Amino acid sequence: MNTRSGFLPLVLFLLIPVAAFAAEPAPPPDIASLQKEIEDLKRLLPGQAHVMSDVDHQYGNLWFAARAKNWPLATFYMNESRFRIAWAVRIRPVRPLPGGGEIDLRPMQTHIEQSAYADLKVAIDRHDVKAFEVAYKKGLGECFDCHKAIDKAFLRPVVPKSPGASVIAVEPE
Ligand code: HEC
Repeated sequence: MNTRSGFLPLVLFLLIPVAAFAAEPAPPPDIASLQKEIEDLKRLLPGQAHVMSDVDHQYGNLWFAARAKNWPLATFYMNESRFRIAWAVRIRPVRPLPGGGEIDLRPMQTHIEQSAYADLKVAIDRHDVKAFEVAYKKGLGECFDCHKAIDKAFLRPVVPKSPGASVIAVEPE
């Protein structure tokens, strides 16, 4: 007897009970267990500051990409940093303020998109280094406006010193 003919019945013998078990309908989840699962999943999501630290890296590298006239790379970092800011705001659109009250981040995110990011896109599309530098510094100011609004004026973005370096100034203002 060859080994193959004995193999198929063996596989079926093993799989049929598994299939029967899988076909058993699962009991419907109750609201409490779903709520717990959502809370558990929320804890796994990256925090706002974590996503912002990507913006640090991307906006920093954007400066060097454009100054090296690497326009495709500049476009990439411009878009990545823009999307990350939007993502960070979606994680926590309204923040409580230390002195009481709260602040809605969405208008400031819309502002930087329509202001500095619009100028950056035009400058990069035109391969215009001078206009890029102006738009980039305007962007730094608009990053800072949002950080001041959330009472974190110590997060002051400046032109980074070298590729890969943080845009956050270590020196106090
Ligand atoms: C709409 C508001 C807003 C804008 C615009 C914004 N940020 Fe932020 N930024 C935040 C918030 C909120 C945090 C998180 C603060 C916290 O949770 O402690 C943050 C934190 C940071 C941090 C600290 C991250 C860490 O944990 O190391 C850096 C770096 C940063 N932002 C860079 C930038 C840069 C660069 C720009 C502009 C290109 C920018 N941000 C624009 C709201 C903003």
